[in-house]
Amino acid sequence: MASAWAGRRVLVTGASSGIGAALARELARAGAVVGLCARRTDRLEAVLADCREHSPGCQAWTVDLADLDRLVGFAAEVVAGLGRVDVLINNAARSNYHAGALETPSADLEYLMRCNYLSPVRLTRALLPSMLARGTGAVVAVSSMAAKISPPGETAYAASKAALSAWFEALAGELRGTGVRVNLVYPALVDAETDADGPDALVATAPSHEVLPAPVAARAILAQVEAGDLESYLPHSAQALVDARHDDLDASIDLLARWYHRS
Ligand SMILES: NC(=O)c1ccc[n+]([C@@H]2O[C@H](COP(=O)([O-])OP(=O)(O)OC[C@H]3O[C@@H](n4cnc5c(N)ncnc54)[C@H](OP(=O)(O)O)[C@@H]3O)[C@@H](O)[C@H]2O)c1
Repeated sequence: MASAWAGRRVLVTGASSGIGAALARELARAGAVVGLCARRTDRLEAVLADCREHSPGCQAWTVDLADLDRLVGFAAEVVAGLGRVDVLINNAARSNYHAGALETPSADLEYLMRCNYLSPVRLTRALLPSMLARGTGAVVAVSSMAAKISPPGETAYAASKAALSAWFEALAGELRGTGVRVNLVYPALVDAETDADGPDALVATAPSHEVLPAPVAARAILAQVEAGDLESYLPHSAQALVDARHDDLDASIDLLARWYHRS
C-alpha cells in the first residue's frame, strides 16, 4: 500500500538532532521529499545522507532561524528547492533552558521568544498563503508540556512555548474549512540524544514520567498529522498531568515547587 507521505514536500526545522532528525528520517523512509534545516551543517549533512538513501530529492539548508529577517528569503529558497511545501513542521527551538526568573538575562528572555515563538510564526506566515491557495496542507507546532504546566526554573522557556501554543490554537480556528490543518504537539519526555528505537505502542502505554525514544515520538507526530488531530501529548499519559492541573492549580504548583526546591 502506498504511504500517505509519498511525494509530499515536508519542511522540518531543527532537523540536525533529536526529534527533528528522527522526523526527517521517518519521513524520508515513508517516501516524503524532506527539507531539513538547522545551524549545525555537519549534523544536518549526516541526517540528509540517511534521508537520501530513501528519498534522493531531500535537501538541507544551514540557517539560523532566530535571525527573523532571514525567514521570508529562506522560505522562498525552500519552495524553489522542493517545488512547494505541503507540510511545515516547526520543531526547532532553544530547549533545555533553565534559569530562575530573576537570574535569566533579559537578552536570553528575548532570545527564547524570538527563537521559540516569533521564528515559527514568521516562517508559518511565509509558507501558509501557498497552502491556502492550494486548499491543502498542514502546519505542525512542536510545543512543550512546559506550555501547559509551567515549571519553576523554566519561566522564559515555558512562556515562549505558551505563546507558540496560543498563536497556533487561534490559527487552527482561523483555518477551519480551508483544507489546511494545524497540529500542536506537547512532548513531555523524549530522548533527543539517541537514535535507539522502540515499539510505537510506547506512546500510548508509557507512564507520563517515562522517556520516549525520538523515533517513536516522531512516528506518533506523523500519525497525528495524518489523523488531523489538533493536539497530542508524548507520551499520551502526560495529558493526565494537565487535567490534574486544571482540577487543582494550587496543588499542581505546590507539587512543582517541592520538586524545584528539593535538596
Ligand atoms: N525532548 C523533550 O523531551 C522535549 C520536551 C518538550 C519539548 N520539546 C521540544 O521538541 C523540539 C525538539 O527538541 P529536541 O528535544 O529534539 O532537542 P534538540 O535535539 O536540542 O533539537 C533542537 C533542534 O533545533 C535546532 N535549533 C535550535 N536553535 C536553532 C536556530 N536558532 N536555528 C536553527 N535551528 C535551531 C537545533 O539544531 P542546531 O543546534 O544545529 O541549530 C536542533 O536541531 C523542541 O521544540 C523542544 O522544545 C522536547
